[in-house]
Amino acid sequence: MKKFIALLSVLFLSAALVACDNGGEDTTITIGANIYTFGDNFMNGVVRPALEDYADHLGVVIDIVDSENDQGKLNDQVDVFIESGVDVLCINLVDPAAAGTIIEKAKAADIPLILYNKEATVEGVMATYDKVWYVGTNSAQSGIIQGDMMLADWQANPSWDKNGDGKVQYVLLKGESGHPDAEARTTFAVKSFTDAGIEVEELALKDSSTWNTQEALDTMASWITSYGDSIELVISNNDGMAFGAITAMETAGVDFPVYGVDALDQALQHIKDGEMNGTVLNDGVNQARATLDLAVNAARGVDVTFATAWELDNTTTKAVRVDYLAVTPENVDEF
Ligand code: GAL
Ligand code: CA
Repeated sequence: MKKFIALLSVLFLSAALVACDNGGEDTTITIGANIYTFGDNFMNGVVRPALEDYADHLGVVIDIVDSENDQGKLNDQVDVFIESGVDVLCINLVDPAAAGTIIEKAKAADIPLILYNKEATVEGVMATYDKVWYVGTNSAQSGIIQGDMMLADWQANPSWDKNGDGKVQYVLLKGESGHPDAEARTTFAVKSFTDAGIEVEELALKDSSTWNTQEALDTMASWITSYGDSIELVISNNDGMAFGAITAMETAGVDFPVYGVDALDQALQHIKDGEMNGTVLNDGVNQARATLDLAVNAARGVDVTFATAWELDNTTTKAVRVDYLAVTPENVDEF
């Protein structure tokens, strides 16, 4: 009889465990997420798979939609996520100035929100909701690293100053105007030269809302036609656009130093092949992990950095900022 009771209680206990798991309340966390456009090399090629892998690893469900570079579309997608009852939102803004709209929606529904990759550009907007955080980088850091790398190479290669005027004649592929990364990279990449007392001359600058390879190819082709060999340096605010510049140069049979940002696999290969001079690792894998760690903690209602190695920068911007790293021909094999 004792044995029978013991067996019964074991059966009862396991039944109760199963009930907790599947019956009553479903405890699986569901995340509504987006990528501002699946047409972006870095966001779609690095960050999206990293989000999916890490969600699997954490045992949470993530739905990642394509906002097709349309903020209006993203606003609607967020409404649909909220109606469907997701536990938390991970949002890659299309327009960094539209953060307030998304924050208001999340706040009205009392759903935590992690903004990632595109930092809100509206001052004070992060303070309007206690359940919004940001995961990204320190944008200026990428420009400083890229600028220092270009400066060192320029100083080591006097022949790069083709017209011998002591100035750097450069063209710059900017990326999205108003995007904190694009703005900061544009400023700081060039500042390394001027801080070192080297004058620069901007021959041309072009923005591109999707940081796109094809657009950059067309832009670079027209710059080669206009400026030809007076171009001494090609600064690209991301690798995707640098690839376009490289193809345009190959087609035209010219060869200028080119630098990017992101450290996509293809960029590492270009550096090894001597077709690109350097890039800056934009650590999308750790950005994805931080985004989901914060999201899951927020959904559970615990401190967002609980049981993680992430740290928030301050109480105003509430951001986790993942470090950038220089990638040069000397260290490329480590990546
Ligand atoms: C940047 C990245 C770009 C582009 C952009 C999209 O951090 O360097 O390649 O992906 O984000 O917001
Ligand atoms: Ca010169």
